[in-house]
Amino acid sequence: MQYEEFRKQLTHKVEERPEWKELATFVPNKPLPVYNWFYYKEGFAKQLVEKLIEMFGLKEGDMVLDPFCGSGTTLVACKQAGINSAGTDVLPTAVFAASVKAANYNPEKLREEAKVLFRRKFRKLEWEFPKIMRAMINKYALDDIAFFSSSIDGLENKDFFTLALLNASIKVSYAWKDGGVIKIRKHPVPPLRKLFQRVVYRMIKDIEDSEPAHAAVVVMQGDARKLNLDDGSVDAVITSPPYLNNIDYTKLYAIEDFFMKMRHVPNMRSFLGIRDMTEQAEAYFEDMNAALAEMHRVCKPGAHVAIVIGNAYLRRSEALREPGEQTFSKAINREIETDFILAHMASEIGFGVEKIYVLNKRFALENRTEKKGILRESLIILKKK
Ligand SMILES: C[S@@+](CC[C@H](N)C(=O)[O-])C[C@H]1O[C@@H](n2cnc3c(N)ncnc32)[C@H](O)[C@@H]1O
Repeated sequence: MQYEEFRKQLTHKVEERPEWKELATFVPNKPLPVYNWFYYKEGFAKQLVEKLIEMFGLKEGDMVLDPFCGSGTTLVACKQAGINSAGTDVLPTAVFAASVKAANYNPEKLREEAKVLFRRKFRKLEWEFPKIMRAMINKYALDDIAFFSSSIDGLENKDFFTLALLNASIKVSYAWKDGGVIKIRKHPVPPLRKLFQRVVYRMIKDIEDSEPAHAAVVVMQGDARKLNLDDGSVDAVITSPPYLNNIDYTKLYAIEDFFMKMRHVPNMRSFLGIRDMTEQAEAYFEDMNAALAEMHRVCKPGAHVAIVIGNAYLRRSEALREPGEQTFSKAINREIETDFILAHMASEIGFGVEKIYVLNKRFALENRTEKKGILRESLIILKKK
């Protein structure tokens, strides 16, 4: 079916849900144990995953996939509900944070290792930190990072302590993420070692306080366009792909990247959604089409898919070819209805579109202040036929 016709028929499936607005954000995770071990601006809320588990009637032993798993919200929420899950992401930091959050631990062993770690006598190490790190973090904190990084190295729970150190390092940094750029704003910060110790013991307590969960979680560094999963192996997909915009999120994670380099994790260059703006929209939808086709391949018949996505706004000179092969290369000021376009693609691939819940509406801004139209953030619900 042509896009225009599809779009007309879609109208009665669109439902406004402003009360779910916060669920498309990481904000509700901030006070939550485990979820808050790593702050991920692009993340969504645990409660959204819980709502979808209920909506889809998922039960213990089922398998959920999040091909754009980010910091692992879907995986941790599924694990807590006794549901097995698999996640992939291209960003090493996200994969790392998700794996540490989803892993099983022996809290006694963690306490033992923490005790040894914090008893060690401080030694100043001559580490060469990159310039960006020196701009973001004061020199005393950098000395602490060097000392603790090398002390953690031999521990059995090295990854757990590394995430705690990363968490504390971000808290003492002067960096502040403003949209797509990092700004440096100096302000008084507590000593890193104190904060690190506090974070470690809080994380151990989170584990001690949590119910034991027996579900399996697999986290892989990989590309959502080519999943390492069998055909028809998944009962549901709960995910949120990158939005169509020109923010290179990979640049926002300098401190995180430094920690990953220490762990010798290579960075992958297949981040969806960051390209030259003129070809960006076209390439984005091509990539998303491939990702949707993969979701369709790995889903069992009857499996549900939930996708949280925000629409985009392209400025005058930016070209776009929409499904339907029309090319708009002239002056355009327009909203790209990513939610409807993805739903159309999904229906062409073989999904039924059940609902589009509109969670949020915000102004599209030009030059960061001029209001130009309204952008939706939506939750698309699909079902494999
Ligand atoms: C909106 S975030 C998902 C956040 C996640 N729901 C959470 O709660 O943390 C989108 C994610 O897609 C990842 N990503 C971008 N391109 C990808 C690709 N080709 N394959 C897999 N993941 C990709 C990004 O690294 C980012 O973590």
